[in-house]
Amino acid sequence: MAFINDQYLELQDSYLFSTIAKKVNEYVAAHPDKKIIRMGIGDVTRPLVPAVLKAMHDAVDEMGQKETFKGYGPEQGYSFLHDAVQSYYKSHGVDLSSDEIFISDGAKSDVGNITDIFGNENIVMIPDPVYPVYVDTNIMAGRDIVYLDSNAINNFCPMPPTDDEIAPDLIYLCSPNNPTGSVYNKEQLTAWVNYANENSAVILYDAAYECFINDASLPKSIYEIQGAKECAIEFCSLSKTAGFTGTRCGYTIVPKALTAFSVDGDAVSLNKLWLRRQTTKFNGVPYIIQKGAAAVFTEEGQKQIKENIDYYMKNARTIAATMDECGITYYGGDNSPYIWLECPNNMKSWDFFDYLLNEIAVVGTPGAGFGSNGEGYFRLTAFGDADNTVEAMERFKTLYKK
Ligand SMILES: Cc1ncc(COP(=O)(O)O)c(C=O)c1O
Repeated sequence: MAFINDQYLELQDSYLFSTIAKKVNEYVAAHPDKKIIRMGIGDVTRPLVPAVLKAMHDAVDEMGQKETFKGYGPEQGYSFLHDAVQSYYKSHGVDLSSDEIFISDGAKSDVGNITDIFGNENIVMIPDPVYPVYVDTNIMAGRDIVYLDSNAINNFCPMPPTDDEIAPDLIYLCSPNNPTGSVYNKEQLTAWVNYANENSAVILYDAAYECFINDASLPKSIYEIQGAKECAIEFCSLSKTAGFTGTRCGYTIVPKALTAFSVDGDAVSLNKLWLRRQTTKFNGVPYIIQKGAAAVFTEEGQKQIKENIDYYMKNARTIAATMDECGITYYGGDNSPYIWLECPNNMKSWDFFDYLLNEIAVVGTPGAGFGSNGEGYFRLTAFGDADNTVEAMERFKTLYKK
């Protein structure tokens, strides 16, 4: 008789995007002539840039020649991409060695898979609201989760607990944050790094949106903070940075200075464990994709992706300016592609969703879908088409402009 991992039965069904899709489909069926503008799901709309396309085309040609064909590659990624990521980190003052960089097929897989190398007895701290993958992957492993309130009082940048009774071993932080758009500054991140080092905890730092940070005083990487290499793993992605949501490539940094304890009390290198995990369960990212990824970090690639990032950030400014004009409180939108707004007139998230859909045919994401503290909030994304974003915000003003 085969048994399942019973922890899967503990997972809540993920209704968020399926419910949104169902409601939108019903609306479309009832109003076939109305133009819906989608500002909900966090996928990008700008295509891959020319530098990436050229590198991938060249790599395809290499694969067709006996002399340049590539079979299995190194599980942790090719050295040319390590070098590119290393130089990128160097450009914001972080020195990494090549074997601290692990190329992945995106941040989602690694954020989930990293749980493999940690014992199930760890207590996990996760902010609420949050990117749902952190919660679900730890439920699958059967770990105890303590939630950290992220709310208007702490500007959606929750700080380390002061209550000694709460002693997390693993701490998830995401900055710039999905869904709230908030970004930790250096002082705040220093407090987290000190807290983790003092309590022998490990921070799992999701920097998937680092490329949207404009303000040079804000950290793009947790390793800009002294002491972070002793307590943090960082996850990064080219999905939003360079339109790789369908192409799939990211990277995870596991510093060699980082350790956690065995049951016998020995300090064990997490870098070694992660290498062991990856070489056992992962066979690397395709050569063609890694070539495209490396092109993102060239001078030309950086210039081209910046145009796309600027395009999205212009959308973010359009949305933020509309909220200002309408007197609606919001977070994010300046160093993040997400605008997290307080639903007007104390509306609940799903009521506001229905209202926007029915009144102006604009689709966003109800904050309640990201955790209980998301109730009463709503997420709009800047990843849409610029003309549609302008049109959506004109429609929005018809409801709320004073
Ligand atoms: C906070 C956060 N981390 C990770 C991911 C996943 O990124 P990837 O496409 O690299 O798997 C997302 C995607 O939306 C995200 O919002």
